[in-house]
Amino acid sequence: MSSSRFILTRALPQGATAAALASDVADGFAAVPKALPPRWFYDARGSELFEEITTLPEYYPTRAEHRILTRHAGDIARLTGARTLVELGSGSSLKTRLLLDALPGGLLYVPVDVSESALEAAGHALLTERPGLRVHAVVADFQTRLRLPACPGPRLVAFLGGTIGNLLPPERAAFLAALRGLLDPDDALLLGTDLVKDPRVLVAAYDDARGVTARFNKNLLRVLARELGADCDPDDFDHVALWDAEHEWIEMRLRARSALSVKVPALNAGFDFRPGEELRTEISAKFRPEGVRDELTAGGWRQAGWWTDPEGRFALSLAFPRA
Ligand code: AVJ
Repeated sequence: MSSSRFILTRALPQGATAAALASDVADGFAAVPKALPPRWFYDARGSELFEEITTLPEYYPTRAEHRILTRHAGDIARLTGARTLVELGSGSSLKTRLLLDALPGGLLYVPVDVSESALEAAGHALLTERPGLRVHAVVADFQTRLRLPACPGPRLVAFLGGTIGNLLPPERAAFLAALRGLLDPDDALLLGTDLVKDPRVLVAAYDDARGVTARFNKNLLRVLARELGADCDPDDFDHVALWDAEHEWIEMRLRARSALSVKVPALNAGFDFRPGEELRTEISAKFRPEGVRDELTAGGWRQAGWWTDPEGRFALSLAFPRA
């Protein structure tokens, strides 16, 4: 189907993902407190659960960002004149359609994601809908070794969903500077950031009544069992979501219900949990307008656009490389 219009490049060597997971577990389970980076949520089941989260009444970010894009995709297209749309952490590429509709025909779409299956599915769906589109999907971890294929400029790099908030502040700084270094002066960045608000609203978004986010969080344990042979049982842990007022981020954790010893055959190691001991699985930082501007500036960017939804819950920034 439409194969001449679809290219897929793997920027991750075969086996790199399993090795990276093993190394993250070796480091993260030995750390105090224990922690794992959130990218490991997104196997096929985790990606499905995340899609379900985006439809929950409590989880406002996706709807808020969608509203902003509905309203301002035309502005974004006009301000950037983009001929290539690069999307980092594209997942199911749903919001992408709003941008694609606003940008001129003959566009190249470059989705970048760690999940090859998500890229295949989303890429082919878009090609059937849009006869003029070309897709060059890239399997890559945008945080560690971001690379872009040759593509016509100006390029618009979209990093949506508030995913930048899943990075720690030094990681965000490194990411923004590295991305700046890859781009030309007339390229642009479209950045989605969730905003600071009433902690009750925030906590509910990460601890929904139906327990979908709890299943999403615990799915990480299934990933560890499948990929590394870890003998961890999701029923041995509780889902925890809390607001860290000092750092202004939501933290998700898995809390051991009793004393546990988790064996990880792939590492030839075991890790003890005290009763109530927690493993941090995600931070999701919430931003203030001046914080977004300052982080962009520090990364070598000039903020040229700032749009929020009517309730001021979520923001999109448009930024250009600083000379
Ligand atoms: C992937 C950044 C959009 O941090 O809000 C949703 C992931 N985690 N519920 C976020 C997530 C728990 C999400 N993003």
